[in-house]
Amino acid sequence: MNIGIIGSGNVAKALAEGLVRTGHAVKIGARNPSKLEDWKIAPVDTLEAAARFGELLILAPSFAGLENAIELAGKTNFNGKTVVDVTNPIRFDQGQFDLIIGTTDSAGEVVQRLLPQSHVVKAFNTVGPAIMTHPEVVDGADMFIAGDHDAAKAQVSQVLEAFGWVVRDLGGIENSRWLEAMVMMVISYGMKHGVQNNAFQLKTA
Ligand SMILES: NC(=O)c1ccc[n+]([C@@H]2O[C@H](COP(=O)([O-])OP(=O)(O)OC[C@H]3O[C@@H](n4cnc5c(N)ncnc54)[C@H](OP(=O)(O)O)[C@@H]3O)[C@@H](O)[C@H]2O)c1
Repeated sequence: MNIGIIGSGNVAKALAEGLVRTGHAVKIGARNPSKLEDWKIAPVDTLEAAARFGELLILAPSFAGLENAIELAGKTNFNGKTVVDVTNPIRFDQGQFDLIIGTTDSAGEVVQRLLPQSHVVKAFNTVGPAIMTHPEVVDGADMFIAGDHDAAKAQVSQVLEAFGWVVRDLGGIENSRWLEAMVMMVISYGMKHGVQNNAFQLKTA
């Protein structure tokens, strides 16, 4: 499948590597494509070109840059497509991480409101770039998703399962509130114990 990635940071590059490895055609979109001229894993183009290219789109800018990234990518290029939202609404300031929205709203819901004609699926946000397409690093961990559109979630689940993830569907996009809060747990634990590769496994009886 053709996949466009909106954003060109650590998460975008990690996802591109995994998607190319599992047989997808990927185009990364950057505000300044020349910043990745030495990076050869996938083509890098403008945000708009990546958004036009992708049958499925992945949103991976900073939360602060989310709205601008969507504007630059061209809102209509998202219409009718599955859009995977990877963003976490987390601010780092004076050595402190904070969730800047939560409980009553989430980045996933913000994206769905910004793109009402797209099918938004929250995914990948609870793990770091080194794990996103390499679940074997945290053998037995789960990948959690949320979204309002079952066919879009099935499409994203196929992409995730090709990496080897066990997918746990939480339900509607409002469940992004809990997926994004989980990241604070990962950060707190990681900072206290000096570890980066943390992931969750849901046990059911
Ligand atoms: N790192 C993690 O462990 C992790 C895990 C899960 C989810 N996430 C989420 O994934 C997203 C990307 O994280 P990252 O680690 O890849 O961050 P990063 O390396 O800092 O990359 C940030 C990206 O956001 C873009 N950006 C920043 N401000 C922008 C603006 N005003 N308009 C348009 N684009 C803008 C940057 O573009 P330029 O290069 O042009 O500035 C860059 O492509 C974030 O929302 C983060 O919360 C991160």
